[in-house]
Amino acid sequence: MEKIIVEGPAKLEGAIEISGAKNAALPLICATILAKGQNVITNVPRLGDVRTILKLLAIMGCDVNMAWPKVEIDTTDLDNPMAPYELVKTMRAAILVLGPLVARFGKAKVSLPGGCAIGARPINLHLTALQAMGAEIRILNGYVEVESKRLHGAVINFPMVTVGGTENIMMAATLAKGTTVIENAAREPEIEDLAILLNKMGARVHGAGTSTITIEGVDELFPANHSVIPDRIETGTFMVAAAIGGGRVTLNNAEPLHVQNIIDKMRASNIEVTTSGRSITIHAKGDIHPIDVITQPYPLFPTDMQAQFMVLALKAQGTSMITESIFENRYMHVPELLRMGASIDINGHTAIIRGGKPLSAATVMATDLRASASLVLAGLIAEGTTEVLRIYHLDRGYENIVEKLNALGANIRRAKSEMY
Ligand code: UD1
Repeated sequence: MEKIIVEGPAKLEGAIEISGAKNAALPLICATILAKGQNVITNVPRLGDVRTILKLLAIMGCDVNMAWPKVEIDTTDLDNPMAPYELVKTMRAAILVLGPLVARFGKAKVSLPGGCAIGARPINLHLTALQAMGAEIRILNGYVEVESKRLHGAVINFPMVTVGGTENIMMAATLAKGTTVIENAAREPEIEDLAILLNKMGARVHGAGTSTITIEGVDELFPANHSVIPDRIETGTFMVAAAIGGGRVTLNNAEPLHVQNIIDKMRASNIEVTTSGRSITIHAKGDIHPIDVITQPYPLFPTDMQAQFMVLALKAQGTSMITESIFENRYMHVPELLRMGASIDINGHTAIIRGGKPLSAATVMATDLRASASLVLAGLIAEGTTEVLRIYHLDRGYENIVEKLNALGANIRRAKSEMY
């Protein structure tokens, strides 16, 4: 078990490269299941979650070659449409193999993911949509078994916006008979990226990036090459790291359009953000003003940036408000921040943060990916040596975070940890 040791406070200066998006890479890799042959995905981040999904494809019979940031996946010998509990339990996104497997093989058996640290996170919407497309669904021994000779098109009106549900159904619909319309679809950039790959493979997907996506089913798809979009959550996390330190940081290979809401919120807090092509420069020269954010589906403020913005709020002069409206249990970082001297009250889904007070270093522990990132950020503004335990969460979603922060002048390192 490893921990991260952060010496604070740190003023960051310089430039780094943003990696490919984890949340785009995962569905893109699953989409390769839909066609027989050799696919090449580039700009793939070297992360725990990406390794997990590739391992799953390998178990199912794919030939996987990891030449980071390039990944080659040959799906020719895929003959075992089954995702075991051991892998799904470590990463819920493994459920994204369900749609493509049923579409290509007419059947799939995937472990139900169960709960996770940030809430129950059911997959009922994925399943009822597949049922509407003609699939028979059985839950047995902790697994969901889905069968359908060939799915048919349907109108799917999701009662709430679901990123994974939209992706699963989009992939399933590519090989269905007839046309599928997804209403109230998620509009995340990762959905658009997936649609671009699917269309390169010969699919007919229209409207991705809007709340209505239409997929005309085709008989066959073909392998393709694709480059993953930049990670907007990694981008946002480094934007916060730069702002709380008060230095000037440039993030290259980013996509400013995908973080527009984060940029707007930062500018409203008196943080200078400038963009130029694929670069974003952050400079917080004066006081940071209090923030007021509500997490909502894209293009509004992302839930995956909530924990990091809480650290920004701790640095702001005055009282900030953050409301979490996507997940029911996503304030697990708060008790840890309190141990560092933060002043935060939780009232239902809303956190009231009284900022501008110094934090003191402590040993802290995270329970999910973005919470871990917020604790590293808190370590960057706290006086003294902060130790963040259970960093395997962080390694699931941030490529080379220690190296990137050190390149910007932070003093942070990994060490062996006896504590679990
Ligand atoms: C994806 C992201 C995750 C992000 C989340 C919300 C990936 C790999 N993960 O997760 O980082 O935090 O979007 O932006 O892209 N829900 C149901 N039933 C369902 C499906 C979802 O009730 O069948 C609920 C969830 O519990 C949650 C909400 O809908 O409260 C949104 O979840 P969803 O958009 O599906 O999140 P994921 O795709 O799991």
